[in-house]
Amino acid sequence: MSKWSRKQDTPRIRLLNRRNFLKAAGSAAILPAVLPAFGAQSSKTSANNTINLGVIGMGWQGPGNTEAFLALPDCQVVAACDIDTNHLKSAVKMVNDAYGNEDCKGYHDFRELLAREDIDAVMIAVPDHWHEIVATEAARHKKDIYGEKPLAKTIAEQQSIVRAVEQNGIIWQMGSWQRSVPTFHKAAEIVRNGLIGTVTHVEVGLPGTNSDFDDVGKQSLAKLAAQGVNVPRLEEIVPGTKAWDLLVTEPPAELDYETWIGPSKMEPYIRARSHKSWRWNYNTGGGELLDWIGHHCDIAHWGLGFDLEGPSEAEGSGELPPAKAVWNTAPKYRFELKYPRGVTMTIAGGHPDIKAGVKWIGTEGWVWVDREGFEASNPAWTQGKHLPRELRKVKLYTSASHQQNFLDCIKTRQATVTPVQVGHHSAIPGHLCLISMLTGRKIRWDAKEETILGDPEASKLLTREYRGPWKMS
Ligand SMILES: NC(=O)c1ccc[n+]([C@@H]2O[C@H](COP(=O)([O-])OP(=O)(O)OC[C@H]3O[C@@H](n4cnc5c(N)ncnc54)[C@H](O)[C@@H]3O)[C@@H](O)[C@H]2O)c1
Repeated sequence: MSKWSRKQDTPRIRLLNRRNFLKAAGSAAILPAVLPAFGAQSSKTSANNTINLGVIGMGWQGPGNTEAFLALPDCQVVAACDIDTNHLKSAVKMVNDAYGNEDCKGYHDFRELLAREDIDAVMIAVPDHWHEIVATEAARHKKDIYGEKPLAKTIAEQQSIVRAVEQNGIIWQMGSWQRSVPTFHKAAEIVRNGLIGTVTHVEVGLPGTNSDFDDVGKQSLAKLAAQGVNVPRLEEIVPGTKAWDLLVTEPPAELDYETWIGPSKMEPYIRARSHKSWRWNYNTGGGELLDWIGHHCDIAHWGLGFDLEGPSEAEGSGELPPAKAVWNTAPKYRFELKYPRGVTMTIAGGHPDIKAGVKWIGTEGWVWVDREGFEASNPAWTQGKHLPRELRKVKLYTSASHQQNFLDCIKTRQATVTPVQVGHHSAIPGHLCLISMLTGRKIRWDAKEETILGDPEASKLLTREYRGPWKMS
């Protein structure tokens, strides 16, 4: 038995019974094992009260999360995994430097890390196209999981993670850390306490550009220009052109590219499509829309009390580059959604009338929140970290630190501030909007059964083909 005993009566377990995800997904009651077995369930016998943590995916967000865990006394990072040897080396060094020892072990294969019985929990920050495989494997090994947003690359993969997490009694914290920030908490409480009246509409403003991380886009275009090929944007470069041929190179020696592309379609290596920038290729990511949906739509749902609700309709469009372009995700997009209780929502990127962040509009006022600010129809609400006590009839879950909340919940076996079902429902609208954009039509959604209504073609986009030998659970 684990030292963190798994109570069977947590809110999360009850959620499984209510939602009945197996039925919704139409799948067999017993999950097939899709990866080689790694032996018996973890006994988690570390002597002290410390949570042993493994970290998987140490590119950009992984080290940020790990740094936060390193600062917390009740956990010990004991293992790191990455398939880029440079990233792995610096991850192991970061951990060992922080503790002043050599105890953190590096792994190339996440399955070896997950097979370690002394590891209680894992932080997963691999690119989106890998979430389902790593998370379900971790759940089968009974590791509690801090997993990055969006929950997964498709709705079917999300459902698979939810099943694995619930069936194995795993504590899950979604990396939607805005729930642990006071301004977002206060804004959501204002809405939940009815201070803006009945909510009629919500605006969710996301970035409206394929962000050029580390200037890889700029450098790629400069490389082309130096060879006499002038193209203004990566969104215009397609296979069969000189520009494309010049951008295709051998993968760098430090990167196991075959594994990196993993379950996605094999494509030639292009630097501007790998680390960090995989987001701008629908083969591996979901553009700004899916990159941000797990942040701002998550907060929008929190305020609405729609953590376990979903839209009934999603319709909209975007400026889609050619499907095979180097960066093929829409930098500009806009969608209208219908929710229960007559609430409507606009999700947009690149439209100046929809300000970045979340704005709830009600019959008696409004409130807007973003990482950079907080505004409200009643200026008194902008004062103070929390609402005055007398206004807080409904008190939302309070977490002062997303990582500490995860560790606390591992010990208590209570739900985190952002459990897996919340992460699942927060990302679903983004997936539906993407499907609407790709098919060019309105998507009607049965939020209870989690199916698209009357559109077999669009329904195919709820899932994707996996490249062997990888398989979805
Ligand atoms: N919560 C947030 O605020 C936030 C911010 C940024 C990124 N993210 C999320 O974190 C995840 C990672 O994003 P990123 O920007 O750090 O990407 P990244 O490309 O910078 O890093 C990903 C790392 O994972 C490694 N990797 C890929 N496949 C692997 C595998 N099978 N096994 C082990 N390692 C593997 C890569 O080599 C790379 O080092 C994404 O899901 C992203 O959406 C969340």
